[in-house]
Amino acid sequence: DDYVPTAGIPHYPGQPITGSAYLGTDYYRITQTNVQVQMIPGMWTKMWSYNRSVPGPTIRSYLQPDPDNPGKKIARRTVMQVLNELPKRHPTLGYVPWTSTHLHGSPSKPQFDGYAGDLTQPGEWKNYQYPNNCTPRTLWYHDHGVHHTAQNVYMGLAAQYHLVDEELEIGLGIPRWDRQKAAEGKPQYEFPLILSDVMFTADGQLQWNDDGASGVYGDVILVNGVPWPNMKVEPRKYRFRVLNGSLSRGYRLRLSNNMPFKVIATDGGFMQFAQQVTTFTIGMAERYEIIIDFKDLKGTKVQLVNDGVLNARDFDHTGKVMQFEVGTRVTSTDGNQWPSTLGDPHPVMTLKATDRAAVRSMRLHRSNDLWKINDTTWDDVVKSNYQNVFATVARDSIEVWDVENSSGGWFHPLHIHLVDFRVLSRNGNPPRPEERGPKDVVYVGENETVRLLMRFEHEDGRYMIHCHNLSHEDHDMMFQYQVGHHDI
Ligand code: C2O
Ligand code: CU
Repeated sequence: DDYVPTAGIPHYPGQPITGSAYLGTDYYRITQTNVQVQMIPGMWTKMWSYNRSVPGPTIRSYLQPDPDNPGKKIARRTVMQVLNELPKRHPTLGYVPWTSTHLHGSPSKPQFDGYAGDLTQPGEWKNYQYPNNCTPRTLWYHDHGVHHTAQNVYMGLAAQYHLVDEELEIGLGIPRWDRQKAAEGKPQYEFPLILSDVMFTADGQLQWNDDGASGVYGDVILVNGVPWPNMKVEPRKYRFRVLNGSLSRGYRLRLSNNMPFKVIATDGGFMQFAQQVTTFTIGMAERYEIIIDFKDLKGTKVQLVNDGVLNARDFDHTGKVMQFEVGTRVTSTDGNQWPSTLGDPHPVMTLKATDRAAVRSMRLHRSNDLWKINDTTWDDVVKSNYQNVFATVARDSIEVWDVENSSGGWFHPLHIHLVDFRVLSRNGNPPRPEERGPKDVVYVGENETVRLLMRFEHEDGRYMIHCHNLSHEDHDMMFQYQVGHHDI
C-alpha cells in the first residue's frame, strides 16, 4: 500500500523522558537544536528539535499520594530548562529564531507561559516552572516566539506532555502507557498521534509557503513526524492521544470502515461521559483522546482517513492519515475497557451559566489584510506597551464569552490561555459530541458563533488569546486579557 512501513510508529514518538527528581519537582533540560531527520526514505530533512527529537520528547508527569492529605493526590512540579542552541538565522528564511516555550494546557504563571514577547535568543536559555495542578490531561509544548511561531513549529518545535493519574487510569481499566511494562519492553496500548502537514522541496527540505491569508498547507500528512505511517496493532483496544499539530489544517477523521470508536477526553482531560462517534473534527491545537477497538479486525487493515473541513486546502493525498495493520494475537488484556463514565467531572462541566458575572462578545475578523480580534492586532497590544486588554476579569469569577467568526471564508480555532472552558452552544445548538468535555481551544467555523463558559482561576496576570492557525497568529490575530489587577 502507500502507507510507510515505518520506524516512526510503533516506536513511541519522542520517547518519554524522565527528569531528575528532587523533593516535589522533576527537572528537565530541553535543548533546541538543528537536526537532520529521515522522513522521506533516503532524504535528510533539516529540522529543529527539542533534544534532537522530532516531535520532541514526551514529558510525563505523574500524580502521587499527598503526604499531608491521606487519600488525596498531589502533582509533582516540573522545571524545564530550555536552551536555545538554534542557528543565528533560519537557513533559508533568514529570520532570527528567537523562541518562547509555551506549555499548552497548563495554568502556568504569566512569566512561565511562553508569552509571545518573552524571547529567548539563540545562545540564551530560560527556566520554566509548571505547577501541574490541573486535571490529568494531554498537554503539548510548542514554540510561541512572536511573529515566528508558525515557522518555528513547522521546523519541528512541538511535543506532547502528559499529566497522568495512574491510579485513576488503572481504575477505569482504559488502555494506558504502563511505565513498568515499558521498561521491560512489553507492548503498550496508548500512543500519541501528532498530526501535521508539510511540503517538501525536490531535495527533501521543508518548503515554506504562507499565503498570508488562509495559512500554510502541506501535501504530505505526517503522524508523529512520519508520512502516512503504518502501525501494527493487536486485535484489542488502544488509546490514542490525538493532537492536531498542523499550522493551518483542520481534519475530519474517521476509520475507513466507518467503525465507531469512543472519545474519552478533550483538551482539559477526561469527559464525564465517553462519546461514541464514527467521525470527529479536530482543529489546530485541539487534543482528543480516543479508544479504538480492533478486536473484530484480526488480520486486516484499516485506515484513519481525513474527510477534510470547510476552508482547508486539500491535495491529492491529504485525505489519508495513517493505517493500522491488525495482527491476530493479543499479548495482554490489561486495560481493555472503554467505560462510558469516566469519573468525577472536570469542575467547569458543573458550572452554571446563570452564575456568570459577565457576558462578553469577541469578534474574529479580517480587515486591511490583517487578522483581528475585536478590531485589535498583537501589534496594537505591543504599541500600547502591553496595556491593551480584551477584558479585565476578577479572579475566580465566572464568565460567558460569545465568540463570533464573521471573517467569511475561514475557520479559526480560538485558544484562551490559562483556563479550561466549556462549550455551551454552537450557533445556538448543542456542542458536537466530541467537544462535550473541558476545552482550551474551540473550533469556530465560518459564520459560526460559539458560547463559552469558564472560571478565571489559578493565577492573576495577563494571558494571551489567539487563533491557533499559527499563520493567523503571527499576522497578528492575537490579543490578551487580564485576571485580577496585579501588574505582572
Ligand atoms: Cu498552543 Cu498560545 O498556544
Ligand atoms: Cu485564524
